[in-house]
Amino acid sequence: MLNENLSKVLGVSLSRLKEFVNEAYKIDLDVKKMLGNKRLWALHEEKRAYLYATVKALEPQIAVETGVGPGVSTTFILSALRKGILYSIDLGEKYGEEAERYEIGFVVPDRLKQKWKLILGDSKKLLKELLDELQEIQFFLHDGEHTYENVMFELNEAWKHMKKGVIMVDNFEFNNATVEFSKRVKSKLLVLSHKEGGFAMIPKLE
Ligand SMILES: C[S@@+](CC[C@H](N)C(=O)[O-])C[C@H]1O[C@@H](n2cnc3c(N)ncnc32)[C@H](O)[C@@H]1O
Repeated sequence: MLNENLSKVLGVSLSRLKEFVNEAYKIDLDVKKMLGNKRLWALHEEKRAYLYATVKALEPQIAVETGVGPGVSTTFILSALRKGILYSIDLGEKYGEEAERYEIGFVVPDRLKQKWKLILGDSKKLLKELLDELQEIQFFLHDGEHTYENVMFELNEAWKHMKKGVIMVDNFEFNNATVEFSKRVKSKLLVLSHKEGGFAMIPKLE
C-alpha cells in the first residue's frame, strides 16, 4: 500500500520502485559491515530503502542534507545520484561514545566522495547561505537538529529553493513542525515509517 502511494507520488512504476528497493538492500549489506553492531543514530534500516528509491526516481541535480553522523543517509543518497551533487551540513564533531569516536561520514565509501561536498558547521548559520548560493535544489533531507524552530527553518528554506522536488524529514514525530509545515504549504505529507521518531516525505512535484 505504501509502495503504491510512493510509486504514484514519484511517478515511477511499482516494479521499478521494487528494483530500487532491492538495490538499496544490497547497498545496506556494506553499510552494515561498516557500522558493525553500532547504531550511532544512523538512519533506521527501514527508512534507507525509501530514501534511496526516492533519490533514484527523482534524479536530482542538486541534493542537500543536514545531519551526516556516521554517513548512512549520505551513502544512500550518493549511491542513488546519477549526475547530481550532494551538499551535506554537519556540526563536524566526532561521533559516538567517548571511548570510541568516529569521523563524521566514516561509512561513506571513497569511490562516492567525488560527488559529495561536506560543509562543517551549524545548519542554523550555514543553510541559508548555501541555498542562496545554489539557488535551486531538487532534494532536501533533514536529519540534523530536531528542534521545532530548526526543522521549521530548514523546511522553509529548502521549499523556497525548490521548484520541483522532494523534502524528506527524519524523526518528524519529535515535534509538530513537519506536519504544520506541510499544511501551510498545502502539500501531502507521506508518512513512510514510524520507527525511531518516524520518517516522512513532503513532495513538491505538481
Ligand atoms: C542523527 S545524526 C545523523 C545520522 C545520519 N543522517 C545517518 O543516517 O547516518 C545527527 C547529526 O546531526 C548533526 N547536527 C546536530 N545539530 C546540528 C546543527 N545545528 N547543524 C548541523 N548539524 C547538526 C550532528 O552532528 C549529527 O552528526
